[in-house]
Formats: sequence, structure tokens, C-alpha cells
Amino acid sequence: MALPQSFIEELKSRIELEDLISGYVKLKRQGGGYIGLCPFHSEKTPSFHVFPSDQHYYCFGCNSGGDAITFVRAIENLDYVDAVRFLADRAGMTVPEDRESRERAAQRADVLEMNTEAARWFHTQLRANPAAVRYLSGRGLTEKTILHFGLGYAPEGWDNLLKHLKSKGYTEPDIKRAGLAGVASSGRHYDYFRNRVMFPIIDVRGRVVGFGGRVMDDSQPKYLNSPDTPVFKKSLSLFSLQNAKGVKAGRLILAEGYLDVIALYQAGFPEAVATLGTALTGEQARLMARYTDEVVIAYDMDEAGRRATDRAGDLLTSAGLKVRVLRLEGAKDPDEFIKKQGAEKLRRKLDQTEGVVEYRLSQAANALDLSSDAGKVSYLQEAAAILSELRSPVEADVYAGRVAREIGVEKESLLSEAERIRRGRQKKGRQQALEQQQKMLRSGVPRINPERAQHLKASRAEEGILCLLFDHPDYYRDLAEVLTPDDFVTDFNRRILIAFAGAIEQGDKPDLSCLQDFTIEETGAVQGILLGRNRYSGTREELAELIETLLDLRRRSQLHRQPLEGEALRAYLAAMGKQK
Ligand code: UTP
Ligand code: MN
Repeated sequence: MALPQSFIEELKSRIELEDLISGYVKLKRQGGGYIGLCPFHSEKTPSFHVFPSDQHYYCFGCNSGGDAITFVRAIENLDYVDAVRFLADRAGMTVPEDRESRERAAQRADVLEMNTEAARWFHTQLRANPAAVRYLSGRGLTEKTILHFGLGYAPEGWDNLLKHLKSKGYTEPDIKRAGLAGVASSGRHYDYFRNRVMFPIIDVRGRVVGFGGRVMDDSQPKYLNSPDTPVFKKSLSLFSLQNAKGVKAGRLILAEGYLDVIALYQAGFPEAVATLGTALTGEQARLMARYTDEVVIAYDMDEAGRRATDRAGDLLTSAGLKVRVLRLEGAKDPDEFIKKQGAEKLRRKLDQTEGVVEYRLSQAANALDLSSDAGKVSYLQEAAAILSELRSPVEADVYAGRVAREIGVEKESLLSEAERIRRGRQKKGRQQALEQQQKMLRSGVPRINPERAQHLKASRAEEGILCLLFDHPDYYRDLAEVLTPDDFVTDFNRRILIAFAGAIEQGDKPDLSCLQDFTIEETGAVQGILLGRNRYSGTREELAELIETLLDLRRRSQLHRQPLEGEALRAYLAAMGKQK
């Protein structure tokens, strides 16, 4: 579906890209633009550039790039039309409605209704199944908690919920779309959740967006979560955020699972949330940053939990959050800790959690034998590496002092070692960024345009043509006389040409907004190609040369590709004769 170009242009003109982006990324002025740490991949040296002059951005580290719309699609995980809506909200404009978007809005509303209906039904089923209630109370949940979280039970059997929802007028495909039914290879629909206690997942607006279901014995999988649906994306949702968001605790607690969160809630910590069976994502970290400045990671005390803690620590720190780590002794997770040692003890622990730095330092210390000289040296090296990542010199100074006292060395030597590591990394980062930039400009976008490698010369010519056309739509007439999109060798570049040509023929200037059906990655690749614009002088002669190069390559490669007959065969033989 396409939104009118004029609307998109008006919208983009009302959005200041650097303003928009600085809501997500800390930008620093550099040259005529801005740079910052890329929100789309993890990095320590900035390679994310914002160019205010023509309102686009590009990351030389991961090749993501585009305009305001691409940015919102990528960072808010929205499709094109929703990204436009998001920006329109911000700019105070109303998106012209069309049939397709109305249909999708209706579908989303249906899914939400089915979810609500299912949650209600699961709850009724819980009341009818003493074994399920026993399971939940056996896990320590009170009646009040069960009600508060709207817990339920999906009974055994293949079509109980299906029958119920069908009686409410929904069809099997509707129910499947809501993630409440699966389809067998025979085509039969069946209940997705069976014989499980059910945890509704509710968004910050109070709508049931999905479910998690746990078995009541040892069968596998232990938990089943709703698949992604038009209203639910696991990587974007957090369980119980609706409870946690308004809490004045000044922090969020990030736990691993449903029952940790519920146990924490019941013990007086409504600020707990959890991801839904997947590792924390950058979006979830930024989502938390909207509600708090500080997150306490309260993952399980096993090896997997420790690894997940390291990862989450990085993501949360990158999202600008202050991160602390809860360490529990004698219990595998917060749920068990509360049961064994009580809520008061947990509160004390939560209030004196260590920061990520202390946590990392003590992890490093625990893994080494600090009574030996070799152990001390390794520890100091690891400590210096940890300190080298701190952005605040004050913080680095405090921790360096602590470590130095602990081991009996000079604080200054530790700090200068940290500084050496930091410089080395910066230099390497700059070098990498430079190399990546050169590589990108040399080889463009091999992943997005896989044909590029085989047809390097031709696709370079195509890219040149696209660059010139982008800046000089008035050349289009000349171009159209001698070249059609069919003359482009690589499919990807051909799609770009068709999109640009479409815009120009409607009297518009080509712009990234004529790429509405391109993926975010593809738009990034187009942006990458367009970054090469400054290599061209921009004359008509230059365009003619590029076209000639392309057509020439095209002619030559066709001689080899197609079986030759008649005229072509004679020409080929003549050419061969000439060469001999
Ligand atoms: P755990 O295995 O630690 O479960 O998984 P738990 O939350 O402690 O639950 P109990 O106490 O054993 O009942 C942590 C989280 O990982 C996801 C769930 O979100 C779970 O809460 N998970 C786990 C799944 O999605 N699928 C699984 O099969 C297991
Ligand atoms: Mn657990």
C-alpha cells in the first residue's frame, strides 16, 4: 500500500531528523553533522552518522541507514505505515486512511478481543479445575495474586478454546491469527495451549496481547509462549510492565521468568518485569529506559543466568540505564529466595545490590586465585579492562582505588593500564570504522544485492546512474530514451531504478520514501549506494558514460548467455573474426 508522496514529503519536512534520533541516541556534533553510538548494533566507538543537510543517517559499522521513516521502522520495530503514523503523531498530522490500513486495524482489534475472551475463559477453566488451582497455590500464590494477574488454565483436549471462540463468531483463521490455534499438516486447527496454567501478557495500555503457559509436571516444553501476532512481538514486550510502570520504587527489577515476577509482586516488589522466553533485546532495554533510570538484574544464579546478566548489563547500560546486579545465596532464583528466606531479606539485598562494575570485578576475582602472584596479575589485567570501559573518570577512580587497595598496588598504575587499553580500543575502533567505510564504498552492499559480486562493473555503473538520477531528476528524459529498467543487470538496482523512475514520472523528486516496499535493510543499502554520490561530478556526460558502460557490458554478457541466432550470431562471428 502506498501513501501519497506529497503527504510523506510534508511529514518529513516537519520532522528534524537529529531531534528525532537524539531521543534514542546521544549525538555529538562532528563536522557538519552528528555522530553517536549506533542503536542497531553493539559498539564502543561511534560509527553512526546523522547528516542534517539531506536528513538521513548511516551507520558505517552495520550499514543501516535511511531517513526518519526508516529510523522509526527500525528502532520502534514498526512497518512502514505504522512508522508514518508514529511520525505523524509527533508532527501533529493525520495519516490519510486507506482500505488496507483500516482492515489491519480491524484485524488487530479482533485479535485483542479474542485474547480478552480467551483470558476470561482460561480463568473460568481454572475455577473448574482444582488440580490447576492446587498447582498455583502449591507455588505459593495467593488467591489475590491469581486474580490480580488474571491467571487461568487451558484444559486438556484439542479444541476446547476453539469451540468456545467459534461460538462467539470467530473463524479458525481468525483464531490462528491471534496465536490461539495451530494448524496441523492435515489442515486441522487445534488449541495452541493445552493442559497448562496460563499467564496473560498485558501491555502498558492494559490490553491482553498474548499468553505464556506452563505445564504442571515435568513435561516439555516447560513454558509455551504465544507466537508473534499482529498485536504481540516477544522481542518488544515485557511481562508485568503494566504493573511495574507506575511504581515509585525508582527502579525496575529484571527477572528471568513469569513466576519470579509474580512472586516478587506478591512479596511487595511490583516493579519486577521479565522477558518472555527470549534473551533481552535492545528494544526492551530502551522500553525500560522510558520508565526508569535504574534496573536491577535479578536473573537465575546458574551459568546461563550469569551469561545472560553480562549481556543484559551491556544492553541496559547502552540504553543509558544505571545497572545493578542482585546476587542471591542459597536459592536459584528470586522466587525460591523469597520462599526460603522471606521478602524482608530480599528487600535488604535489593537495596544494597552492587553496580555492574562491582559485580564484574567480583566475578573476575572469584574465578582467580588471588593469593598467588600470577592470580593477582591476571586479576589486575581484568580489572583494568573492566575499568577501561567506564565512561565516567570519577567512577573509574573510585573502583581503581578499591582494587588497588585490595591487591596492594598503586592506583595510578591501574588507571594508566586502563587508559592504555581504552586508547588501543579507540584506535582499533577508528581504524575499523574507516576500513568498513572504505569496504562499504568499494563493495557496496553484497548481502542485499547478491548479484553484485558477479557483475561488479555493471552494478557499479548502475549505482552511478542511480546516484546521478537521485540528484538530477531532470536527466531522466535523456536516460529513458536509451535505457529501460530491463537493461539493469542486478535485480536489486533495477528495483531502485523502477522506484525512482516512478517518483519522477509523477513529478516528484526521487527520495527514500518512494521505497515503501523495501525492507529496512534494503533501504539501508540504498542509503549506502547514495552515500557514493560525492564521487560523481554530476554532468550529463558522466551519465552518458555510465549508461554506455552498462549497455556495453550488457551486450557483451548477452552474447555469452543466450543461444545465438540470425543477426546476433553473425555479429558474434564478425566480432570473433575481428579479434583474430
Ligand atoms: P526457568 O526454566 O528458569 O523457569 O525459565 P522459571 O521461570 O524459574 O519457572 P519455574 O519456577 O520453573 O516454574 C525462565 C523463563 O524462561 C522462559 C519462561 O519465560 C520462563 O519463565 N522459558 C523457559 C520458556 O519460554 N520456555 C521454556 O521451556 C522454559
Ligand atoms: Mn528460574
